[in-house]
Parts: sequence; structure tokens; C-alpha cells
Amino acid sequence: MPKTVIASSKEAAGEYVARAIADLIDQTPDAVLGLATGSSPLPVYSALAQLTAGDDLSRVRGFALDEYVGLDPAHPQSYRSVIAREVVQPLGLDPANVHVPPGDAADIETAGERYEAMIRAAGGVDVQLLGIGSNGHIAFNEPGSPLDSRTRRETLTERTRLDNARFFDSLDDVPRYCLTQGVGTILEAKRIFLLAFGEGKADAVRAALEGPVTSDCPASALQLHPDATFVLDEAAASGLS
Ligand code: F6R
Repeated sequence: MPKTVIASSKEAAGEYVARAIADLIDQTPDAVLGLATGSSPLPVYSALAQLTAGDDLSRVRGFALDEYVGLDPAHPQSYRSVIAREVVQPLGLDPANVHVPPGDAADIETAGERYEAMIRAAGGVDVQLLGIGSNGHIAFNEPGSPLDSRTRRETLTERTRLDNARFFDSLDDVPRYCLTQGVGTILEAKRIFLLAFGEGKADAVRAALEGPVTSDCPASALQLHPDATFVLDEAAASGLS
């Protein structure tokens, strides 16, 4: 079963995970990080930037979980832009070492396979960061996604589009499709930290940790992983027994 850590604040949660990543980078300067976007991992990135200030992180490699399809890669809310702004620049990573699924690929149906080949060639993900959707999604594996799914083009649910509308001018601007790592892809990471904050995540966290392992709640697949940790605030943990 995943370990559960309840932190006193988002900042404390971010520091807890950032310390583990900083230790890894100390031992393995070319570590492979699995990068999440959205709001939940931001405290990790800011704590990591502080912990590693002055260090040379140019050999660290990174693979993002997902990307919108049908959004200009130069749009400020494309995950390519978000990863550049929130991760690559503050941490001083080499942009050539950090990859985001190519949501704009002409051959989108085979883009997932090529992305996975790059992850394999890098030796796999050492530490994967995850958020969780209010509907239990991880990356953009919406409820119903097979637990052995691989990187592929998917359709976002209305709930996810509504949740993400806060990042856009209007709901109409939120893309309808994405290119996302699969649940099976994510489970191959050696170590996983899932971050969740706020009451809005409490039901999903409870289903993921205390419900059955089912594609109805893709995050429940983390029960099958040997080294997964949920790092929560009190509100996100409030549904746990
Ligand atoms: C982002 C991602 C999503 C988010 C999830 C939670 O790369 O894959 O699964 O982690 O939607 O988003 P936030 O953290 O914004 O609540």
C-alpha cells in the first residue's frame, strides 16, 4: 500500500518531496524526473529551487506526464510553456534534457510510442511527481482508463475541463484532447510521490487509497506500486479513515 504523509502546509509538503529529489540528484546528477503540471507540484518545484540554489542541475533529465492537444505549444498554458517557466528556468535545467509529450505532432497516433521509447532510452523515471484530479485521474488518465494503458491521445472529461478552466480565459478555451502517459507507463517509475491539497481532493484521495483498485479511479492503481507516497494536507486527507 502507498505510504501517506500528512503535512502541516503545502509548503511543508513541497519541502518533504523536494528533499527526497535533492538527495537523489546529489547521488545521481543525471537522475530522470517525472514532471507533473497543474498547481499541486508547484510547492515541490519552489522548494527544490531553494534547496539546490547554486548547484549545477544541467545533467538532470525530465519527462512531463501530459500535454494538451489542439493548443498552440507557445500558449502560456501549454504544458511545454508551464514546464519551461515553472521547472526548467527556476531549477537551471538544460532545456534539451527535458521533454514534454508532443501534443502538436502530425502523427499523434504514434507519438505516444515514440515518447515512451525516449523514456526507456533514458533508463526509466527515477522519481515521478503526480497530482490527482477531483475525479481520481492521474496524468490525464480519466476514469475508465485501463490500468495497463500506455501513452496515447485521449479526450478530457467535462469535469477536468471545468477544473482546468481556471487556467484559461473561458471554458471554451480549454482544450478537449490531450496526449498523456498511461497508467501502466506511470507505474513503471521507480518511486512515486502524489501531492494533493484541499477538500476538493478528499473524495479522490479516499477512493485511491481505501477503495478497490479499479479503472473507475485511475489513481487507485498506485496501490499496486511498491514505492508510492501520498503527500497530503489535512483537508485532502480528511476523508481517510
Ligand atoms: C498535470 C496532470 C493532472 C493534474 C491534476 C491535478 O500534469 O497530469 O493529473 O495533476 O489534474 O491538478 P491540480 O494539481 O492543478 O489540482
